[in-house]
Amino acid sequence: QAAEKGGFEHFMMKEIHEQPKAARDTIGHYIVDEAINLSDISTQIAQLDGIEQIYIVACGSAYHVGIAAQYIIEDFAGVPVRVDLASEFRYRKPLLKKSDLVIVISQSGETADSLAALRLAVDQEIPTLAIVNVLGSSIAREAGDVLYTYAGPEIAVATTKAYSTQLLICYVLAVEWGLAKGRISDEEYHRLIKEIESLPAKMDRTLEDKERIQWFASKFANAHDMFFIGRGIDYAISMEGSLKMKEISYVHSEAYAAGELKHGTISLIEDGTLTVGILTQPDLYEKTISNMVEVKSRGGYIMGLTSYGNYNVEDTAHFTVYIPKTDPHFATSLAIIPLQLMGYYVSVSKGLDVDKPRNLAKSVTVE
Ligand code: G6P
Repeated sequence: QAAEKGGFEHFMMKEIHEQPKAARDTIGHYIVDEAINLSDISTQIAQLDGIEQIYIVACGSAYHVGIAAQYIIEDFAGVPVRVDLASEFRYRKPLLKKSDLVIVISQSGETADSLAALRLAVDQEIPTLAIVNVLGSSIAREAGDVLYTYAGPEIAVATTKAYSTQLLICYVLAVEWGLAKGRISDEEYHRLIKEIESLPAKMDRTLEDKERIQWFASKFANAHDMFFIGRGIDYAISMEGSLKMKEISYVHSEAYAAGELKHGTISLIEDGTLTVGILTQPDLYEKTISNMVEVKSRGGYIMGLTSYGNYNVEDTAHFTVYIPKTDPHFATSLAIIPLQLMGYYVSVSKGLDVDKPRNLAKSVTVE
């Protein structure tokens, strides 16, 4: 097994480090000669022909990809997106129409709730698109169209590289749809493609900071609670960062839309409670900073996660992690890496079974 782990102590760490390669492989498949290539799927979906509403349905981390994707798709393509947990979607009698597109995101392609949600749409002859990692899996076989992620096999229960490749496919779709809808100019299209292609190298750079995160995480190994806050796409990042922390480190953590803190959660802040403020969205930067100030004034310990250049975050945060600059729509791909590392290192500091956390399964094939 040591060989399978490629010199890393755990599969999760190996897979965290495989993200730049998984990203390159996925991008290489869908961006060819500086243009997006969606020849694997029908032109109707590739061009969003006649589609007026998109549903993204998934579980766990794949659902968090959907949360990030909704902001990006709405921004670029101007088509409304609703994101649903598969376990909710399948029982809430969704009002589907022929002009809808249902996207199911799943690493394994076997998650029972996601499969049931897909079948519900297929039975009503609604166009469906699956974003799946495992070739020939049930969701891949049953969906009308499928786009594969090229993450390779993922062993650790907590997903990292599959999540990252799912995001990339959503970026590619959003940019292509933006062009198809005439909301993105040719020039902007090429700029965004270059930006997507630059992400793997920036992921590599983000990984170089891991020792600093290890040191910081070890200080919080005994934490009882943590909060992750952000707005917009930063809220989506918060949700995945928080999930990573709780699933492998057993630390109670919550993600909150930063503006919602004052409606209850702020009462939980005590002296030293760690709150991670995520600030990758320039338009929302000041707003989230002011929420971080509110937490700090109640004794909270503040970590800031933002792009290089935003150095005034240090006026508020006790500890800051910087990520390379990118288009804000794509920031999740970089910001998630320090949060995956934090979850990992807290788990290791506590001596837990990182790759096989208690009570969790890699793929939940029963309801
Ligand atoms: C399990 C895994 C999660 C994953 C979720 C959805 O809970 O532990 O990491 O996000 O299932 O799995 P899927 O295979 O559908 O992406």
